[in-house]
Amino acid sequence: MSNNLFDFGMIGLGVMGRNLLLNTADHGFSVIGFDKDPAKTVALEAAATEGTTVKGVPDLAQMVQQLQRPRKLMMLVPAGKPVDDVIESLLPLVEKGDVIIDGGNSHYTDTLRRVKYLRDKEIHFMGVGVSGGEQGARTGPSIMPGGDLEAYAHVKPLLEAIAAKVNGEPCVAYLGKEGAGHYVKMVHNGIEYAIMQLISESYTLLKHAGLNNDQLHETFKAWNEGVLQSFLVEITADIFLQDDDKTSARLLDVISDKAGSKGTGKWTSQDSMELPVAVSVIDSAVAMRTVSGYKEERIQAAALYNEAGAPINVSTDEWIKQVHDALYFGTILSYAQGLAMLFQASKELAMDIPLPDAVSVWRGGCIIRSTLLATFTHAYKNTPGLSNILLDSGVAEIIKSVESNTRAVAAQAALSGIPAAALMSSLAYFDAYRSERMATNLIQAQRDYFGAHTYQRIDIPGTFHTEWNH
Ligand code: 6PG
Repeated sequence: MSNNLFDFGMIGLGVMGRNLLLNTADHGFSVIGFDKDPAKTVALEAAATEGTTVKGVPDLAQMVQQLQRPRKLMMLVPAGKPVDDVIESLLPLVEKGDVIIDGGNSHYTDTLRRVKYLRDKEIHFMGVGVSGGEQGARTGPSIMPGGDLEAYAHVKPLLEAIAAKVNGEPCVAYLGKEGAGHYVKMVHNGIEYAIMQLISESYTLLKHAGLNNDQLHETFKAWNEGVLQSFLVEITADIFLQDDDKTSARLLDVISDKAGSKGTGKWTSQDSMELPVAVSVIDSAVAMRTVSGYKEERIQAAALYNEAGAPINVSTDEWIKQVHDALYFGTILSYAQGLAMLFQASKELAMDIPLPDAVSVWRGGCIIRSTLLATFTHAYKNTPGLSNILLDSGVAEIIKSVESNTRAVAAQAALSGIPAAALMSSLAYFDAYRSERMATNLIQAQRDYFGAHTYQRIDIPGTFHTEWNH
């Protein structure tokens, strides 16, 4: 620490802020954290690794005054108004050239607004996605920064030091202009929603075949040792074994099925429609969390529509293999849709998002890390500027190898009445995407029929309208 000034400051010492700051200190940076709750500043200092420089203060001005210039400070506070409030309270304290980072899950349009607001005051504002939860923050998260390159240069060494490492490479890279960091994080979360939904569908599909929690554990554990290897499959395997400390049941079996959400999945769906780009697997995942909340109505509907569906018509071993392939298929489709969204958004919103770097940043530390990402890196290497990874021949080989089992699972789910919306969406999207000619010519005809909306022809250029034979 030179002149007793700190290298880095953190505003908000909740779980994420505290852990990220301790991680930063472990990498040799002197750090100072602010929280108006003095208990949190005390907890921060108490948790510091011996020999590191970590200070907690309950006064914002005190923190800002003790930072080296240009000041580098991050806030990890709830998205929305709290971020604006922090900015307003910082304004009288910071100076030209200082770098303020919002490391929370802010909506990118808020980030854009804040970047512009602070640019006028010659202060750098960066929207930075941070993924990995509590553990990731402490030992190495995946970090998705966006903003101006000059600001990034100031924080690059620090972010590279604290990020997760894969083969020695840090899981952080400059991901584009202005709101790009938060945009990439939003889409990361959309993919997270989709894969979580697909895993939960796999769980119910396997349960219908009679697998108990121990068998589910074994199945997911084995899957995590193969092509499905990923953080989410890994933690799912663990979840099946967790005992409840209040009853003799497994914890999973006493957890309510109403799913929560903080909104990033919904934002992904909403913003996809603005571009537009289809992210139907993500849409299904958001919708299923919503349906899960209608518990009372589901109880009524369960009584009303209580016919048992057809039994699963293959052996349990065969079913497990089919569900494995269906999950693999759906997972690839989830990434494909999310990455296609980033491709379009990068162009439409002029963010210049380097897709291979986004994929590389997701390889470690984050919730959607998986071995599959290496396949996508390969795809982008083969075809720079690839608009959809489904167009890559390597990805196509994988899809073809699991396609028939995916269809078998979707068909069985339909016959058995097992809800599998994300899986079915992934297949429906795939079948539309691989159709050279869709049935949307009929939609064009209908639009012209009732509203004179005109249509194009396949044989003659131009725009046409017909007086239909009513
Ligand atoms: C991450 C996560 C995290 C997110 C939680 C909860 O990358 O570490 O995406 O940022 O907040 O997963 O999200 P929901 O409450 O919306 O499920």
